Amino acid sequence: MTEPVTNPDNETGADLSDRLTLTSVGQTYGSGDDQVVALSPMDLTIDPGEFVCLVGPSGCGKTTLLQIIAGFLEPTEGTVMIGGRHIRGPAPERGVVFQAPTLYPWLSVQHNVEFGLKARGMPKAERAQKATEMLETVGLGGFGSRRPYELSGGMQQRAQIARVLVNDPRVILMDEPYGALDPLTRERLQVELLNLWRRERKTIIFVTHSVEEAVFLSTRVLVMCARPGRVTIDRRIELPGDSPDGVRSPDVIATPELQNIKVELAEAIYNAHS
Ligand SMILES: Nc1ncnc2c1ncn2[C@@H]1O[C@H](COP(=O)(O)OP(=O)(O)O)[C@@H](O)[C@H]1O
Ligand SMILES: [Mg+2]
Repeated sequence: MTEPVTNPDNETGADLSDRLTLTSVGQTYGSGDDQVVALSPMDLTIDPGEFVCLVGPSGCGKTTLLQIIAGFLEPTEGTVMIGGRHIRGPAPERGVVFQAPTLYPWLSVQHNVEFGLKARGMPKAERAQKATEMLETVGLGGFGSRRPYELSGGMQQRAQIARVLVNDPRVILMDEPYGALDPLTRERLQVELLNLWRRERKTIIFVTHSVEEAVFLSTRVLVMCARPGRVTIDRRIELPGDSPDGVRSPDVIATPELQNIKVELAEAIYNAHS
């Protein structure tokens, strides 16, 4: 067992009925000589309203951990709970945004966003209104009738985020969502995501390769290492100008405070591999 990674204080002051608790969660793929310990058994607690970034090299188990929380993958060991309930499969309360947009190409953007609401039996007029509002929120007002292929990569990512948010999830899981975007679009979407997180007070778990992106976005960074996959650092992030209602500006990226944390984490990742 690795050291427990927990958040003993409920610093967000949020409703703990949505607390995410992983107890001795481990994942082993394959068997015999092909066996891979993707996640060594770990404990992890994430409170409502936290913005947690997972960073680490390829193969350290980031996607595996996200898939377990999403309910796509049942871990080979341990239990995952949200509030007092076991996670036993995917649910709209846990929305997932992937790196490659997974919009349905044969549906309009509007119908992509309505999809989950329709599946849950929401009446047509109501779901149309909700989807329209959500497209406005993510800056895609007026694009509802387009097909996904008519949108740029950044707009497709916004549409994916709208499709997840419209279900009003408690937890948003994002797996390298901005990895394929150009730097300007990426920065714009980072700031939009921070705005949204401040406004909606969701829990966000965000996987990225970029230590800088992780520090800029999050209230907490978990650094992971491979062979076996595990969390090696659990670091709270506080940056100049942070306030409960404020949104970080990209200007904070140049501050010594952010850069020092970035160096600290990057060195830890490097040392773990040398
Ligand atoms: N379905 C699978 N079957 C076998 N091995 C897998 C599977 N998914 C992931 N792995 C292995 O588990 C480890 C962790 O993978 P992953 O969670 O995708 O890491 P990351 O997202 O950090 O790159 C890697 O060694 C990967 O090859
Ligand atoms: Mg991955």
